[in-house]
Amino acid sequence: MTPAADVTGKRILITGGASGIGAASALLLASRGAKVVIGDLAEELGQQVAQQGQEAGHLVMFKKVDVTSGDEVRELFAFAMQALGGLDVVINNAGVDHMPAPMHELRDEDFDRNIAVNLKGVWHCMRAAITCMAPNGGGHVINVASIAGLRSAPVLSAYSASKHGVIGLTKTAAIEYAKANIRFNAVCPSFIDTPMVQNTLAKLDERGQQSIVKASPLRRLGRVEEVSSAIAWLASGESSFMNGHAFTLDGGMMA
Ligand SMILES: NC(=O)c1ccc[n+]([C@@H]2O[C@H](COP(=O)([O-])OP(=O)(O)OC[C@H]3O[C@@H](n4cnc5c(N)ncnc54)[C@H](O)[C@@H]3O)[C@@H](O)[C@H]2O)c1
Repeated sequence: MTPAADVTGKRILITGGASGIGAASALLLASRGAKVVIGDLAEELGQQVAQQGQEAGHLVMFKKVDVTSGDEVRELFAFAMQALGGLDVVINNAGVDHMPAPMHELRDEDFDRNIAVNLKGVWHCMRAAITCMAPNGGGHVINVASIAGLRSAPVLSAYSASKHGVIGLTKTAAIEYAKANIRFNAVCPSFIDTPMVQNTLAKLDERGQQSIVKASPLRRLGRVEEVSSAIAWLASGESSFMNGHAFTLDGGMMA
């Protein structure tokens, strides 16, 4: 059997860990020996994920955060630094999508929310991560972007703009902070079977649903564990020469 990527003892903070890709990643990393703090807006769900990890004998803690608030993000990082004794890996995964709409019909609040959570929220967390990691020998920041950050996403223009922005932040930080030994990489999933995507599917007719499910050459949605296992590899020492990269997890959609 091939041994799993080793994250034993890694001190990891993950945002958006109460649901979907974030919850699967938090629990996988903890099951492989990482010490994990989850930050999420959804308090009840976040507590449940932490409890699930604890009941399995792992170290998983939860703290409520709204990543759109720079102050709350600073408090989250202060909590994680104290609880874990430092931070080796930060996974910026919290995100939202919006009601699909052609660009001229997109509502202001949808545009603003996507930029506030997906782009400014990631910047808040990158800034806090750099502040924690730079004086302590470095670390690794993993941003969860999307293939919508690499190509067009018709009727999801604000989401696409926010994710393109995340990749810009990732690549720029990778160069700015290489000297401080902080690496930055992004993962770009296509449609993954999570509450976010189920919510979108519920708003579409049969034809629209099939176009999403069959968008990948593999003709199916991705599974959360297919993203969390890649994140676990990135979080391990095995990714040590990867910096400034945005890689796809899309069943071949971008090929
Ligand atoms: N599911 C997909 O198909 C897909 C594809 C590409 C990228 N992504 C990205 O993956 C990430 C996770 O998505 P998911 O599909 O697991 O969605 P999800 O809705 O299951 O989980 C998102 C989590 O982010 C949290 N969140 C939202 N706003 C927040 C805020 N302001 N502060 C703190 N937490 C907040 C939510 O409470 C939730 O727990 C997102 O960044 C998303 O854009 C998802």
